[in-house]
Amino acid sequence: MNIIKTKTEIAKYVSEKKEQNSSVGFVPTMGALHQGHASLISFGLERHHYIVVSIFVNPTQFNNATDLEKYPRTLSQDVSFLSTYKNKVVIYAPTPQEVYGDQVVSKQYNFKGIETVMEGTHRPGHFDGVGTVLNHLFRQVTPDEAFFGEKDYQQLLIVKKLVEIEKLPLKITGCPIHRQENGLAMSSRNARLTTQQLEEATFIYKILRQVKKDFDTKSARALRAWVSRQFENNPHLRLEYFEISNSKNLRPLSRKRTHQKYRAFIAAFAGEIRLIDNMALN
Ligand code: PAF
Repeated sequence: MNIIKTKTEIAKYVSEKKEQNSSVGFVPTMGALHQGHASLISFGLERHHYIVVSIFVNPTQFNNATDLEKYPRTLSQDVSFLSTYKNKVVIYAPTPQEVYGDQVVSKQYNFKGIETVMEGTHRPGHFDGVGTVLNHLFRQVTPDEAFFGEKDYQQLLIVKKLVEIEKLPLKITGCPIHRQENGLAMSSRNARLTTQQLEEATFIYKILRQVKKDFDTKSARALRAWVSRQFENNPHLRLEYFEISNSKNLRPLSRKRTHQKYRAFIAAFAGEIRLIDNMALN
């Protein structure tokens, strides 16, 4: 399997493919690959001849040193996971210096308010880190299109804004959340859950499903109160936030408006592992 480690080599690989009139998609990841990533790659391969998968645990997007240290790093497993795609998929696994140069620091962005709610409130600096690394990676890889999972829905909106701000010539496409049979959203962090926690974490999905069912008949306020109570009565999961927001600008819902789309968002801890999930409500 072709593993590229430098920006010069990845630029050469992509420009050679483009010279041959092939198009190149991009799936940026932090590794610990799972079926959710596989579904992004399949989406990409339906539209492009080749897919670059970057594997890079980005230090600037972690606001918690323990979280960064404990983030799963499984490069050799990731390589064998991707080997089934043969030469259709190439791995870009750079060092921090290769991505950032000498200063591994974030640029400060103004994402027009999308960065100030939910993940932005609870993980200060996170979206500056995400924006900075993707700005570097997009410029190094120069793909035609990049694919992101809707599990990180707020991140998806941030990336769309980033491309506008940095005037980058690529398309950003969101792909549906990939779930286990029991509803748990696929995430690299699931690798850190015990078998029991994996089962208990399906509670998050069950809550989102119920909120969706009740969305037409109950107010946002009543739903927020109901969700808080459910988590208070659950000894296994600690709720960090629950929000119902406008799908376009992530403003918290106060009064439902016709023709507007809304989504429910949850962040919760199973032990020390932080999980997020969301669901379209209408
Ligand atoms: O979603 C992720 O895995 C990361 O935030 C990303 C997009 C690869 C940037 O480091």
